[in-house]
Amino acid sequence: MAEVLNRFEWNVQVATAQKPEAVVTSSEPAPQKRMVLCGAGGFVALKHLEAMKVTHCQLLGAYDPHDGNMQRLDQFFPGALYFSDKKLFLNWVREQNALEPIDYLVVTAPDHAHMEWIKTAQELRIPVLCEKPLVMNRAELDEVTSFSGSPIYSVFQARFLPEIQKMKLWVDHEPTQRRNVSIEYITSRGPWYWSSWRGDQARAAGAFADLAIHFVDVLTYLFGSSKSFKLDEASRFACRGKAELERADIEWEFSSKPVVRPGEKNPIYSRRLFKIDGNDFDFTRSFEQGHIILYQHLLRGEGIPVQDVRATLDLVFGVQGGMD
Ligand SMILES: NC(=O)c1ccc[n+]([C@@H]2O[C@H](COP(=O)([O-])OP(=O)(O)OC[C@H]3O[C@@H](n4cnc5c(N)ncnc54)[C@H](O)[C@@H]3O)[C@@H](O)[C@H]2O)c1
Repeated sequence: MAEVLNRFEWNVQVATAQKPEAVVTSSEPAPQKRMVLCGAGGFVALKHLEAMKVTHCQLLGAYDPHDGNMQRLDQFFPGALYFSDKKLFLNWVREQNALEPIDYLVVTAPDHAHMEWIKTAQELRIPVLCEKPLVMNRAELDEVTSFSGSPIYSVFQARFLPEIQKMKLWVDHEPTQRRNVSIEYITSRGPWYWSSWRGDQARAAGAFADLAIHFVDVLTYLFGSSKSFKLDEASRFACRGKAELERADIEWEFSSKPVVRPGEKNPIYSRRLFKIDGNDFDFTRSFEQGHIILYQHLLRGEGIPVQDVRATLDLVFGVQGGMD
């Protein structure tokens, strides 16, 4: 691992030095953005609460139909209101927004509920920060792209990771160079995953759209949109394929189940390896602080607008369509 990163460090020395993002310190001015959170009791909502706190946002209120995890509000925003009734929550949001505009409506609900919350935010003219995948399919993507009520930002935190930012500098240093990229992306989930909403086609966009979306986003961020792709092998749980992007030829292997390699004793549960022109980059451990960095960008006006996620979602939905 150390050797891999050292080679990477060496490569980026050719590009302009850029200081990696740091976590906001208490000496920085507090933005005090006014937020509401929809889906506040879930897994990823915790990362948003932490990011809001670190970036000095103010959570005014939260909605979740299930109240099981709401004690977490005491840890981050003890004064925040909680609603399990959607109608009451919406009435309250309307009132608050009329008194003083709410800066962001943050959506951490399951995939199928994203569109409805985005529409609500449009109607109320509140900017929305919505978890990935922003929408469930291409038809919804077309619809959401046409909205003009308020800005819509997506959560693709991997783009902002210091390692990816350095990689972008390295890649952009030779913009006409076509790259050969291969990716091994194993992120295994147990049977619970398939029994939850994530395994239900009506409520989730699918395993590739859920789990592989960050690697696809990093690819389109670095190398542009896809001109074509081909699936060599696909099941509901895994796929292998090739894609031609504007500036790279990609080969990938994705699995949501543990993978056993011939000759290896132990299954691989988690691995995020990128190989670019023969150089290995290991991101297996990089994804932890992503939401904080995403909020830092958002609050300085560098959120990821819906127009900037089209290339990612197009490829993701295309591949996902071949796995269903
Ligand atoms: N950016 C990332 O790295 C990342 C990581 C995990 C999940 N996610 C995304 O975040 C979203 C939530 O995932 P999760 O793993 O936290 O799921 P989760 O099941 O743990 O949490 C979802 C929460 O939303 C609540 N909920 C259900 N229906 C709702 C509705 N209509 N409106 C509001 N809330 C509702 C549930 O009660 C639950 O508390 C998904 O879209 C997922 O793809 C993103």
